[in-house]
Amino acid sequence: MKMLIIHGPNLNLLGHRKPEIYGNQTLDQLNQKIKNHFPELELEFFQSNHEGELIDKIHQAMEVFDGIVLNAGALTHYSYSLRDAIEACHIPVVEVHLSNIAGREGFRRESVISEVCLGTISGFGVTSYLLGVQALKEHLKH
Ligand code: DQA
Repeated sequence: MKMLIIHGPNLNLLGHRKPEIYGNQTLDQLNQKIKNHFPELELEFFQSNHEGELIDKIHQAMEVFDGIVLNAGALTHYSYSLRDAIEACHIPVVEVHLSNIAGREGFRRESVISEVCLGTISGFGVTSYLLGVQALKEHLKH
């Protein structure tokens, strides 16, 4: 089973950016934790601060991966082009967030991508990613 884990804008700053909200772990540590947790999966990790690069990666993923776990960062809240890419890609995408976006500033409470994702996991820090990968794995088994 091949999965792509995508991190959007500013997630390269994990561990330094608002640790009280996003935690102390760096992106490398987070990726390593996911790898250690799922040794049976073929995982690839991708981070970009650029909307177009994220869209290109989703297009390419169609041919290569069984599914995607995506933390789109702030693009979650306004990127219709990312939404369209997810809808067009025909492989399941699980939306994840470290923080509970439903309990934060008003603009974060809306996700324009949720509707085209398989499901959303939000608010559990690094565990959101682990739950996202687990949920996608179960989905792909059936
Ligand atoms: C985030 C929540 C977004 O609102 C924010 O812009 C991020 C991270 C999260 O993981 O909690 O960059 O997606």
